[in-house]
Amino acid sequence: MIKTKKRKILLLPGDGVGPEVILEVKKIITWLNKKKSLDFQIDEDLVGGASYEKHKNPITDEVFYKALESEAVILGAVGGPKWDNLDFSKKPERALLKLRKELKLFANLRPAICFKQLVEASSLKPEIVSGLDIMIVRELTGGIYFGEPRGIKPIENGERKGINTHTYTSSEIIRVAKVAFELAQKRNKKVTSCEKSNVMEAGVLWREEVQKIKDSDYSDVELNHMLADNCAMQLLRNPKQFDVIVTDNLFGDMLSDEAAMLTGSLGLLPSASLGVKDKNGKMRSMYEPVHGSAPDIAGKGIANPIATILSFAMALRYSLELEKEADNLEKAVQKVLDEGLRTKDILSKGKKEVSTSQMGDAIISKLK
Ligand code: IPM
Ligand code: MG
Repeated sequence: MIKTKKRKILLLPGDGVGPEVILEVKKIITWLNKKKSLDFQIDEDLVGGASYEKHKNPITDEVFYKALESEAVILGAVGGPKWDNLDFSKKPERALLKLRKELKLFANLRPAICFKQLVEASSLKPEIVSGLDIMIVRELTGGIYFGEPRGIKPIENGERKGINTHTYTSSEIIRVAKVAFELAQKRNKKVTSCEKSNVMEAGVLWREEVQKIKDSDYSDVELNHMLADNCAMQLLRNPKQFDVIVTDNLFGDMLSDEAAMLTGSLGLLPSASLGVKDKNGKMRSMYEPVHGSAPDIAGKGIANPIATILSFAMALRYSLELEKEADNLEKAVQKVLDEGLRTKDILSKGKKEVSTSQMGDAIISKLK
């Protein structure tokens, strides 16, 4: 087999269960290098609270530059109660926001798929969620997360005022809408765009720009506009009406957590954050599980590594042009679930409980 060129992957395990789930991805990469003669070059470094402990900084410049130079960053999770009272600028979450903003990762893809083996794990009725397969495209570098002015300032009478600003420009809206339309073209050709145009000017602009780009470039895709609160309700009432949902940073944060719960377990859901394509079609990217650092179960060997493993599958597909290997890895996950192996978070009667590393090993044993 021909050796491909070295491909740099940066692993940032982070905090809580992050290191445990990233370890399983490392095992898979090692397997691919050996068995498929791929030439992934793995580097690994600190981020979040782990970085704060050593450097008093949630992400050092050195790690940030490593991320800039990698083809894909795979992140575990950041944060934990230990760092809750730190100054805003030192919090583990700042590392995540800095990576998103400065790598220009504007499109966050969060699939919510209800695995047939786990229909019963959802808190919704089986008929509502079985076969569910939606994709949330969340804008990730704009809106209220980053808008200026921001801060807390003293005002008269000893009162204080907290300020955040929600802003979007046309081009920020258009580029994320394009990602949504292009994904829909490969799926069921339906996009739902969510905002609050009934109360927010930025929402009016969002609606108008999404409609304009659809009319000019994507006549083959059906577009519906929906107010974000209604979308939250519809996701519970009839989630299968959706194919691709595109929305801003804050609504996307909330709607994707809600959608994740439809599938029964946060431990299964991957995500991809994609950047701007350069003239060679290459882009920066970061992949991470949708779940957080889960400090309550960290270090016990019981975390579910599937979300992180499926995030790596997304990296193979979207950043590394290894579609076949991505399919292969996703099928391996399915086979292991078919055989009834479950980590604690998705365990049900009659199924076999396995640890984080046993789950990783079982998935590797199904790779071809
Ligand atoms: C997410 C998380 C982050 C966010 C936090 C950890 C900063 O909730 O990725 O959904 O709010 O974007
Ligand atoms: Mg969130």
